[in-house]
Amino acid sequence: MTVRLTRRYYFAASHRLHSPALTDAENRETFGKCNNPYGHGHDYEVELTVRGEVDAITGRMVDVPTLDRLTEDQILTPFRWRNLNEEVEVFRTEVPTTENLAREVDRRLRVVWRTAFPQDEPRLEKVRIRETDRNICEVTGCP
Ligand code: NI
Repeated sequence: MTVRLTRRYYFAASHRLHSPALTDAENRETFGKCNNPYGHGHDYEVELTVRGEVDAITGRMVDVPTLDRLTEDQILTPFRWRNLNEEVEVFRTEVPTTENLAREVDRRLRVVWRTAFPQDEPRLEKVRIRETDRNICEVTGCP
């Protein structure tokens, strides 16, 4: 039987919503106070949903320590207490919105997923980023 398990992680980081493709006035118009030149911070919540079969012997579907280590190395350590615009390469060109952050988390995990989990399972089914109570983005990448 296929089950889904969701694991939740946290990190704090700062960002500024600003696109180099727009003028300063257009940026202010588009992003409002989120375009404040000195940036602002969020306590981000990352939820990873993985899917697979329950192992008959261990009763588990995913090796949680492996998932935790992967997330720590690929996401939490590189993002925690960082200025995302300045310190995370991709956000030098992409605007660090919740949408782009969710895509980047998904991308980073997929690059190393098969190395960490050499079997066909578990699959990474969903990445969900909660930036504030009112702003949540999900990426469902797996087929
Ligand atoms: Ni923000």
